[in-house]
Amino acid sequence: MKKVARFVAIVGVSAVLLAQFYRPSRENPSTDPALSIRAYKTIPAEVLATLERSCFDCHSNETRWPWYSAITPVNFLIAGDVNKGRRRVNFSKWGKQKPVKIQGSLQMIDDEVSLKQMPLPRYLFIHPGVALSEAEIKAISAWASDEQVRLSEQTDSLQKDK
Ligand code: HEC
Repeated sequence: MKKVARFVAIVGVSAVLLAQFYRPSRENPSTDPALSIRAYKTIPAEVLATLERSCFDCHSNETRWPWYSAITPVNFLIAGDVNKGRRRVNFSKWGKQKPVKIQGSLQMIDDEVSLKQMPLPRYLFIHPGVALSEAEIKAISAWASDEQVRLSEQTDSLQKDK
């Protein structure tokens, strides 16, 4: 029985060690700073700071990869969230979207933070300090609505000019 237990333990440890060779890429693709949401003067500094603190790890190309993101299989879970998050909303490529797409992103951001769906609960579990306060949620919401109005006025005037 002892022999079996030792065999199982050795196989288990080897599997975990071998798994370390399978790692997803932890890349922060370089992006043009002019396209970053930071280039928008209409975002209040405190809203930008909140997004940087609580959203940028998954929704920008400036992910701060934690040390445990080097360990298989945790790294696959983290890289999965980052890749999915960047595909939905990428604050580093904010200006690359058409105004109507930005309006859609703003509405989604407003919905997600107001309903407390974002930041992801599993992220908050590991980073308790990044939860949004009620005041921060209100500030994000107010910016998201003002910015939608501003963008729609801008597109209206562009159409009138034609
Ligand atoms: C730990 C990573 C992580 C963090 C931190 C995070 N998100 Fe997300 N976010 C995701 C993932 C993953 C998805 C895609 C969800 C899915 O496919 O179900 C997503 C989706 C979204 C969407 C799109 C929702 C939709 O309906 O398509 C918005 C908007 C969003 N997040 C906003 C935010 C905001 C704002 C913050 C900060 C307050 C934030 N997220 C923080 C991982 C994250």
